[in-house]
Amino acid sequence: MAGALEGKVVLVTGGGSGIGRATALLAARQGARVMIADYVPEGAEKTVAMIKEGGGTAACVAADVAVTRQVEDLIQKTLETYGRLDGAFNNAGIEGAMAETIACTEENFDRVVAIDLKAVWLCMKYEIPQMLKQGGGAIVNTASIAGLLGFPGIPAYVAAKHGVVGLTRTAALEYAQKNIRVNCVCPGVINTPMVQRAFDKGGMREADAIAGEPIGRLGKPEEIAAGVVWLLSDAASFVTGHPLTIDGGWTAR
Ligand SMILES: NC(=O)c1ccc[n+]([C@@H]2O[C@H](COP(=O)([O-])OP(=O)(O)OC[C@H]3O[C@@H](n4cnc5c(N)ncnc54)[C@H](O)[C@@H]3O)[C@@H](O)[C@H]2O)c1
Repeated sequence: MAGALEGKVVLVTGGGSGIGRATALLAARQGARVMIADYVPEGAEKTVAMIKEGGGTAACVAADVAVTRQVEDLIQKTLETYGRLDGAFNNAGIEGAMAETIACTEENFDRVVAIDLKAVWLCMKYEIPQMLKQGGGAIVNTASIAGLLGFPGIPAYVAAKHGVVGLTRTAALEYAQKNIRVNCVCPGVINTPMVQRAFDKGGMREADAIAGEPIGRLGKPEEIAAGVVWLLSDAASFVTGHPLTIDGGWTAR
């Protein structure tokens, strides 16, 4: 049976770790040729090696997606490598410092918004023209349950992720008639290096995170990957502008 992404070229930003890596691996298993972008080249190279070991097709580019020139180059290299771009998972992100509103520094606020919000717009800005040329495409951005609810101690992150939901809905409306679907995923607390860092920084206790999840455990990166691959696939052909919560029931409370 053909994979859900057979014949498609898919770009994954932040593909060197966590949710991005799990999605790159699943996309490749579902038949996509994958381009991985990360500003930590070793992580991206490891994901490429893992995909190749599994018989898939992958390449990577070292890029900071918060820098315009590097995003332009990334799209250019994807086209040089594979000749097209059918799907994009704009997922690279950082957690930033854990500090409530009055303690959050301007530097932290600017850095988090630059990577978690502005870079998502920048990626779409350079991905969509190629999709328009090809006559269609699918984009999935990574928001968060922090894009739907407030979380004390991470004001910049919450603001950025709310912004991603808004950007997603707007781009979805702008390109709905051009055969380009734009959705986002809103993960709950997923067991990745980012979340382990948040536990280590003391911004969140693991026991509280587990207690927040009605399902009673942290999510796995593969559980987000499954939703992203579905949204990128033709099986989701009537889904656009949707923030898909994959959160163990967190936002059902
Ligand atoms: N883990 C969670 O619980 C959770 C929950 C909701 C949303 N998210 C979001 O999911 C996404 C992935 O997070 P994760 O948990 O897999 O984290 P992670 O730290 O394991 O992976 C993030 C990857 O993004 C890369 N990256 C960061 N900034 C970058 C930049 N400017 N340019 C290029 N690459 C960059 C990092 O090097 C890393 O490889 C993030 O947007 C995060 O905010 C995570």
